[in-house]
Amino acid sequence: MMRRIKDYLNGQPENGITVKGWVRTKRGNKNVAFIALNDGSTINNIQVVCDVASFDEQILKQITTGACICVKGDLVPSQGAGQSVEVQAREIEVYGVADPETYPLQKKGHSMEFLREIAHLRPRTNTFGAVLRIRHAMAFAIHKFFNDKGFCYLHTPLITASDCEGAGEMFQVTTLDPDNLPRLEDGTIDYSQDFFGRHTSLTVSGQLEGELGAMALGNIYTFGPTFRAENSNTPRHLAEFWMIEPEMAFYDVNDLMDLEEEFIKYLVQYALDNCQDDIAFLTKMIDPELTDRLNSVVSTDFVRLTYTEGIDILLKSGQKFEFPVSWGVDLQSEHERYLVEKHFGKPVILTDYPKDIKAFYMKQNDDGRTVRGTDVLFPKIGEIIGGSERESSLEKLNNRIAELKMDTKNLWWYIDTRRFGSCPHSGFGLGFERLLLFVTGMSNIRDVIPFPRTPKTAEF
Ligand code: 4AD
Ligand code: MG
Repeated sequence: MMRRIKDYLNGQPENGITVKGWVRTKRGNKNVAFIALNDGSTINNIQVVCDVASFDEQILKQITTGACICVKGDLVPSQGAGQSVEVQAREIEVYGVADPETYPLQKKGHSMEFLREIAHLRPRTNTFGAVLRIRHAMAFAIHKFFNDKGFCYLHTPLITASDCEGAGEMFQVTTLDPDNLPRLEDGTIDYSQDFFGRHTSLTVSGQLEGELGAMALGNIYTFGPTFRAENSNTPRHLAEFWMIEPEMAFYDVNDLMDLEEEFIKYLVQYALDNCQDDIAFLTKMIDPELTDRLNSVVSTDFVRLTYTEGIDILLKSGQKFEFPVSWGVDLQSEHERYLVEKHFGKPVILTDYPKDIKAFYMKQNDDGRTVRGTDVLFPKIGEIIGGSERESSLEKLNNRIAELKMDTKNLWWYIDTRRFGSCPHSGFGLGFERLLLFVTGMSNIRDVIPFPRTPKTAEF
């Protein structure tokens, strides 16, 4: 198998090796050139040393920042500081040049805003290489966590006719011609002539289908892209983001909170154990407190308190918030961060929210005004998980659906599960990119996904 730079850096000196990658820098003098080469397998570059006299001048000229090269030579103990081995080059082939006049990644220290404009090239920077490797490691760890616990990975559909969160923030999916829409007699669009014979959209959440799975397989999770047409231009919102949604039969809200806490701690610990170089780099270059913050989360108990208790703390805080606080309001990021960062200094799981600010499916409490929802709030992020015990009573679910004047036409199959073998169950959704913001220390969600989709941006 072809070995990569990471393997050579961790290996022993040997003759006759080949390395391939992109040139980060070239420096040197008349006699010797030093090339820092990176192939994406690690944040660390391998140093390639060329005896200038033994190479064609034209070839050496083409070896500039960004060029792609193949080097054959010997892996030898390094004389210089900073690495234990280096490549003494014997042959170099230039696969692809990168004109120094036009290649945009010349100097270090580009702004994140500029790098977003060249999202096709930014994976070649140290920062984005680190972020994307951590993103991969977290995706793998998520599957491992659930697989080890016997959860079944259920593939829920991306195209759907139902609005799980009921917020009306869905992207429509249609093959109808917008310039020539079929109309019913009353002037409304005739979706029976559309591809699916009904009005469809991209899903905001796989939960509803996830619940169907849990009520057959016991414990399931889904992990896929979700789509929200909310016009939120914030550092924490994407129009296309990935979500992990487990759903568990026979879990009550306390079992749910235990799993939420265990899951996040597992993922953070996995990153600390398996992404050391990348986390060390990000701690040095992006967020000096990153490593400490990650260590503190895995070793601390999350605070659990009710929404009502949380509101009391905010009211007594004497703090001036941009959005005023009173019982019944939806908490803003500034409120969540006050509780987590200023008041408790650790992650908080808030429960028992007013039913009017939460979705229809949450289990109703006996007080008639709150539901068994849980939001996990994190330092720097605010809400990282939203979940709940689900309403399992057919009667209560139907009452809530009627109260909200929801259209049951597209939900009959969901309601059916409360008619046939209903059971107590719970689930949550973790925003994958919010998790990555926390684990990488990056401050804008656009910078933890390769190709972000936000209002007015869908390039690349
Ligand atoms: O709180 P939300 O809207 O909950 C649900 O969708 C439930 N159906 C999940 C479930 O119980 N199965 O979203 C869950 C999480 C949020 O806590 C947040 O981390 C993330 O998804 N999220 C977003 N991440 C990026 N951009 C957005 N626009 C997001 N909206 C939600
Ligand atoms: Mg939420």
